[in-house]
Amino acid sequence: PVGHLADALARPLHDLRISVTDRCNFRCVYCMPKEVFGKDYPYLPHSDLLSFEEITRVARLFIAHGVEKIRLTGGEPLLRKNLEHLVAMLRALPTPSGRPLDLTLTTNGSLLARKAQALKDAGLDRVTVSLDALDDDVFKRMNDVDFLVADVLAGIDAAHAVGLGPVKVNMVVKRGSNDDQIVPMARHFKGSPTILRFIEYMDVGASNGWNMDEVVPSSEVVRRIDAELPLVPQAANYTGETAARWRYLDGGGEVGVISSVTGAFCKDCSRMRLSTEGKLYTCLFATRGHDLRALLRSGQDDLGISAAIARLWQGRTDRYSETRTLNTASSDTGARKVEMSYIGG
Ligand code: GTP
Ligand code: 5AD
Ligand code: SF4
Ligand code: SF4
Repeated sequence: PVGHLADALARPLHDLRISVTDRCNFRCVYCMPKEVFGKDYPYLPHSDLLSFEEITRVARLFIAHGVEKIRLTGGEPLLRKNLEHLVAMLRALPTPSGRPLDLTLTTNGSLLARKAQALKDAGLDRVTVSLDALDDDVFKRMNDVDFLVADVLAGIDAAHAVGLGPVKVNMVVKRGSNDDQIVPMARHFKGSPTILRFIEYMDVGASNGWNMDEVVPSSEVVRRIDAELPLVPQAANYTGETAARWRYLDGGGEVGVISSVTGAFCKDCSRMRLSTEGKLYTCLFATRGHDLRALLRSGQDDLGISAAIARLWQGRTDRYSETRTLNTASSDTGARKVEMSYIGG
């Protein structure tokens, strides 16, 4: 069974997001807070992780089903040893359309300056870097680590220098924590090749103690930037784009806002997620995955695995962000949502 797949709400399967490690060297308060992800946190043992060969096999079957974009995530993907080998293996996969696969990576940037050239040489197209503040004190309060903002900025520069741009920067905005950085971040990246995107703080996972009061709606982000640096709306680049785009009136480039809380974009969601240990998730907010690793390791042939992928996508009805209520968003009611560091951002 090959070709394009549609789910139960007629959404095509287009993106595969692969988490390559559940570990991270940051402790972002909205993702891996130190109180939960402490010294004794039970990370997955290496034998539970999909090998590069297993990941590549799965990716090949997804590409046959019409996937055109693959994003490597984590945790922090650059912590996975020899990640550039996986990039090269994925790059070598043929696509049915003959169009090159869009192969990207989301990173916190801390190891990027060191790795950018090897990633580029292996065939990575571009990178997205998470950066929540320009001010070191605010950065530290958000990410709870000793890295300097300058290290991340050096990673972004290195990515541009080797041709991994234009780099997108993702800033999660948490009211009372880093919302004073909205305008300074906009000012800093205005007129540069970097595309800055502001993300609404989400109720993902079960550890971040999410609270609606700490969400800064994208409409407010746009208003606050527009008051100082006038903006005009821009059309989307492609159907299903997570970010709404705004460009500076004076031609200084663009910013994006990702409104997964105040403006759900499930309608066009074409993303499947593969967790670090080989479970497939049809939604970021799923409470359970489908164990692909068991199939892979039971000697199932490609046809069987391909059919399992098709069945899973075709039965998909997820639209969590559209149906979210304050009740389902709370971390202490209902089934435990999976952590973003495990499923991949
Ligand atoms: P581009 O290809 O660069 O446009 O990337 P993207 O926007 O598809 O992916 P990226 O990883 O940069 O997504 C940015 C952020 O949007 C993520 O870190 C999440 O916070 C959020 N996001 C991405 N995909 C989803 C999704 O399917 N559902 C929800 N609710 N949020 C998502
Ligand atoms: N809300 C919004 N985005 C989040 N990310 C992780 N946790 C959250 C959350 N609670 C996203 C950020 C980060 C990426 C790796 O994951 O965009 O940049
Ligand atoms: Fe690590 Fe990214 Fe999660 Fe921060 S958001 S803890 S950098 S995986
Ligand atoms: Fe897709 Fe689920 Fe996010 Fe909606 S909430 S956009 S269905 S991942």
